[in-house]
Amino acid sequence: MLYLTRMNRDSVRAEIERLKAEINHHNYLYHVQDNPEISDAEYDRLMQRLLKLESDYPDMVTSDSPTQRVGGEPLTSFSTIKHPVPMLSLANAFIERELDDWYNRIKKLAGNAGFDFVCELKMDGIAVALTYENGRFVTGATRGNGIYGENITHNLRTIHSIPMTVPSKEFARFEARGEVYITKTGFVKLNASRSQQGLPLFANPRNAAAGSLRQLDPRLTASRPLDIYVYMLGYLEGSNAPGTHWERLEHLKSLGFKLNPYNRCASNIDEVKSFYSYFLKERHNLPYEVDGIVVKVNQIDVQQALGNVGREPRWAIAYKFPAVQATTLLKEIKISVGRTGTLNPFAVLEPVQIGGVTVKQATLHNEDDIARKDIREGDTVILQRAGDVIPQIVGPVLSKRPHDSRPFKLSEKLFSPQAGVPVCPECGSAVFKPTGEVMYYCPDAACPAQAEQRIEHFASRNAMDIRGIGEQLSIALFRQGLVNDFADLYYLTKDDLLTLENMGDKSADNLLKSIAGSRQPALERLIYALGIKHVGIETASLLAARFKSLKKIMTATREELASLAGIGPKIAESIVAFFQNNANCQIITKMQKAGVAPVEINEVNDKSRPLSGLEFVITGRLKNYTREEAEEIVRSLGGSAKSDITRKTSYLVTGEGAGSKLDKARQLGIEQIDEQGFLDLLKNQT
Ligand code: IVH
Repeated sequence: MLYLTRMNRDSVRAEIERLKAEINHHNYLYHVQDNPEISDAEYDRLMQRLLKLESDYPDMVTSDSPTQRVGGEPLTSFSTIKHPVPMLSLANAFIERELDDWYNRIKKLAGNAGFDFVCELKMDGIAVALTYENGRFVTGATRGNGIYGENITHNLRTIHSIPMTVPSKEFARFEARGEVYITKTGFVKLNASRSQQGLPLFANPRNAAAGSLRQLDPRLTASRPLDIYVYMLGYLEGSNAPGTHWERLEHLKSLGFKLNPYNRCASNIDEVKSFYSYFLKERHNLPYEVDGIVVKVNQIDVQQALGNVGREPRWAIAYKFPAVQATTLLKEIKISVGRTGTLNPFAVLEPVQIGGVTVKQATLHNEDDIARKDIREGDTVILQRAGDVIPQIVGPVLSKRPHDSRPFKLSEKLFSPQAGVPVCPECGSAVFKPTGEVMYYCPDAACPAQAEQRIEHFASRNAMDIRGIGEQLSIALFRQGLVNDFADLYYLTKDDLLTLENMGDKSADNLLKSIAGSRQPALERLIYALGIKHVGIETASLLAARFKSLKKIMTATREELASLAGIGPKIAESIVAFFQNNANCQIITKMQKAGVAPVEINEVNDKSRPLSGLEFVITGRLKNYTREEAEEIVRSLGGSAKSDITRKTSYLVTGEGAGSKLDKARQLGIEQIDEQGFLDLLKNQT
């Protein structure tokens, strides 16, 4: 019997290992190679099987398992990591002369040693160092001040293009360094969702990437569209690395890291210049922001001979692209109505060419932003497209301001002489501005502009993902009286659809098929799709993870909601208000009657978390683990590891030399266990 059990465990372990390898392989094909071989559904099936086995055998869960990419409780703070080799910054060249000067300098210093170059794009993101030990990703850090960085391992794990394991163990310990970034479209979507939630917007993709990496809760990071390009090998132990930067990059690629496909070797400085000129024009067509190129000496021995000047290596330089600016006339500030009733000001511009595109409009965010920059109708304004995706209005050219110009006031713009108050430009309802918010709102949920956008939002990609229903069709369905709210989508017939202009037989069939196919969405998608004010996909994921069913979310109290990390009183209030509204509940019931039922989150995930709900503080030196490792084990089993003792602490784990924390635990009556006690506890749980 015992023998059989062991056999079983061995075969389970083997299956887990096989599944992990298979999932990691498909993950690599999808996220690094951009060339998936299996469908999402097949991938999900593998993942479900692994989750099931890990939930039955929780002691077999390892931190590098693909199920653990988003795991553990939020941290209370970031710990610090000392970089084994400092993370340097780069000197800049802004004009060709400065590049030539750099080249001439290093040529002289290199003496007889010949060298060539590697040209790379200078990604506008956040530098990170990824450390692998015996083939496993162990820690990830930000650059910080170059010497010390922040430990953001939990967040980096959520980036699927970062391998959790690498095939070769020939380097006992090594570091891959690279840039984490957000694509231009990812950034636009993130800001659109933040704007809907009334959250402050990120100024550019770089800030968005930085903000996303500095989240204490990895679930928030996981919801952000982060990606990475690895650009160099950092610290290395165990074996000799190849002698050129190019070969090292190739080696990193062969280990499964994602490298920028535009990296090129250049055998002389003219080839470097051609690379620069090409991307000076092409950069606007790239899906991510780049602010220049990085030129690196290829030969590592020459790099070493050249050395550093302060924090900058002599062997590399950033050759920056100039920012593109243009001036144009701001003809008028208009207001559009958002899905949740926000009144969004935007600038109507005299069309102008900037960075290869014609710009006719630019967002102005909100009244405070307009006032801060003092932008007025009739101004000539400076538009910039530098590190920014959407051209931004930098500010007015004051010397060109008309004499009769007046500061812009949204309330004046919206003022209706008949009503005697500012009104919604779409439906004429009196607008309001909640205290403490920057946006004005149209209060009328029946406002056609809002209703149309709610339908469009419901069907959108991160929501119910109903292919074929975009802006145009949402407007048409609403105006034709076929769909008054999103639940009506599930009652559409083919005859209804055929009354629409340009709707053919085949398109109608396809549309009905996509609508029907959206009936079992993931819970977070449905919550997001409802269009609750301030609830973006991030908050929706939090709600789904914690409450696990729509019913529980609908009946949650303000206090229950606000107790979740990431949900403040404003969001909690908005959720409660949404579900207290009769009309909203009727739409939900109508939708449920049509068979829409989210896939509710089952307990599979939770069973693999035997320490769930327990809070540990680890102090002193342990014999078997470092503190970080012990904390990692606690987290991987669903517990949380904190640095300070509070009344909520479940156990204080005491290693050798435990000090003041022991006193505090005694004072508060917190249970203390030594290392053996901790190991016993783990054994009993797993
Ligand atoms: S190499 C010693 N390569 O630029 C070499 N950096 O201004 C230092 N960056 O902190 C880095 N793309 O965040 C390198 N292809 C690339 C890069 C790159 C972007 C960033 C990186 C670094 C900063 C230095």
